[in-house]
Amino acid sequence: MIVLGIETSCDETGVALYDSEKGLLADVLYSQVKMHAEYGGVVPELASRDHVRKLLPLIKEVMQRADLTANQVDAIAYTAGPGLIGALMVGASTGRSLAMAWGVPAIGVHHMEGHLLAPMLEENPPEFPFVALLVSGGHTQLVKVTAIGEYHLLGESLDDAAGEAFDKAAKMLGLDYPGGPLIARLAEQGDRTRFRFPRPMTDRPGLDFSFSGLKTFTLNTIAKHTQDGVLDQQTQADIAAAFEEAVVETLAIKCRRALQETGLKQLIIAGGVSANRRLRERLDAVVTKEKASLFYARPEFCTDNGAMIAYAGCQRLLAGQSSGLVIEAKPRWSM
Ligand code: KG4
Ligand code: ZN
Repeated sequence: MIVLGIETSCDETGVALYDSEKGLLADVLYSQVKMHAEYGGVVPELASRDHVRKLLPLIKEVMQRADLTANQVDAIAYTAGPGLIGALMVGASTGRSLAMAWGVPAIGVHHMEGHLLAPMLEENPPEFPFVALLVSGGHTQLVKVTAIGEYHLLGESLDDAAGEAFDKAAKMLGLDYPGGPLIARLAEQGDRTRFRFPRPMTDRPGLDFSFSGLKTFTLNTIAKHTQDGVLDQQTQADIAAAFEEAVVETLAIKCRRALQETGLKQLIIAGGVSANRRLRERLDAVVTKEKASLFYARPEFCTDNGAMIAYAGCQRLLAGQSSGLVIEAKPRWSM
């Protein structure tokens, strides 16, 4: 089965073709990040317009790259939510309409299920069951995964998502949007021991997270070390390092706990923050201690992309599901 996948939930237009026999055939991505950076965050109206502008050319391009014609595509998968409603509508209506024109089924995919399954696109993928840490700009969740579609929530953030916390801390440090990768880069020049930020909710049982307190801590540390309106470069890097260390350590403690509580020996990490090098290093140490294994996607499939939607849609379609004629777009939708 060959599935065309479309992702337009936020600020990346992603399109890919996945073949259940041969694997990923082609994938293309257009990022709007530069346009939104000027405004310090995603501007929903501009995002929708840019998806409209880029989606059809990207679909054409991915078909050319895979050397396929329309009659060779068996189904279309598009991100149905959660995300920005205008942005979702572009992918959903285009996907559903193309499916009608081509006479094939369409399926609306949950964006976080796409992220969750992205490591399956790599060589030596994990086998069910496993523990998944989903860390993106909108979600932070620990999930026990027993099969496609069988997701048991173990814990989640009670306030900000990990990626959101990275983005907000970056803004306070005067960095561009999205701040996660910029904090990570800056942290490499920082002294990780100069400041010690709290590891929220690790001193009590449970697998929930809370990252909003770290914002206040970051803000106060910046204020304390700003003189005449200037924060020196080394202190800026030291704060970035302390912040990253706190988020990463908190995630690592909870992942270890999740492995111990479930008795499972495979941990997968997915979503934008799973591209973070320090997080991967720390989780490598966790799985070694727990005699478990760690799985993640290549960096470009950690952040939003069409390949994960094509893959997740393909699994759902193979299980006999489809969305019928409705155009599914749900800005809020739990997995
Ligand atoms: O999964 P994603 O692309 O979009 C959502 O579904 O939200 O995640 C984007 C988030 C942003 O908050 C971004 O700052 C963060 O992932 N991010 C990172 C890194 N790369 C992306 N955070 C920390 N370190 C990184 N290397
Ligand atoms: Zn995402």
